[in-house]
Amino acid sequence: MEKKNRIELIRQEVNAILQNQQDTEHRREGYVHLYGVAQNCTLLAIRRGLDIELCTIIGLLHDIYTYKHGYVKEHAMLGAVEAENLLRKLAVFSEEEIEIIKNAICYHSNKKIKHDKYSELIKDADLLQNFLYNLSFNVKHKKRIKNTLKSVGIKMKFNKVNPAKEKAQK
Ligand SMILES: [Fe+2]
Repeated sequence: MEKKNRIELIRQEVNAILQNQQDTEHRREGYVHLYGVAQNCTLLAIRRGLDIELCTIIGLLHDIYTYKHGYVKEHAMLGAVEAENLLRKLAVFSEEEIEIIKNAICYHSNKKIKHDKYSELIKDADLLQNFLYNLSFNVKHKKRIKNTLKSVGIKMKFNKVNPAKEKAQK
């Protein structure tokens, strides 16, 4: 039997959720954010020697609750339950894999406390996407972003003047 490409399976599920989102701006944000974070997850998984497939899937699913139902503060915990149900329905993930994905999604909003490696990876990938979306926007958790960039060989100073403006002024 041909092995299913699980990332593509998850993509189909995520796309179906996003296509159901009636607010077109929220839908656009969903595509940009979930796909952007997933790619950051892939990159950081390669760098950190973690399971690349699981990390990409965590990225795709991490804010699924928000793009299905709208943002609530508890979206991480609620999204973990939603993801678990989805993964069980697909029946191609082991209990151990479901546990890793579920925990990472559950903890991803709590950027101040340190959790397991997969949870830390999604937190970093999430913040990096927000940061890279537009460098002139102010973002929280600069130290974490700085360390993430450093881990992929980029040293950057966060000045009061944002990098985009700084460049434009030269
Ligand atoms: Fe996010």
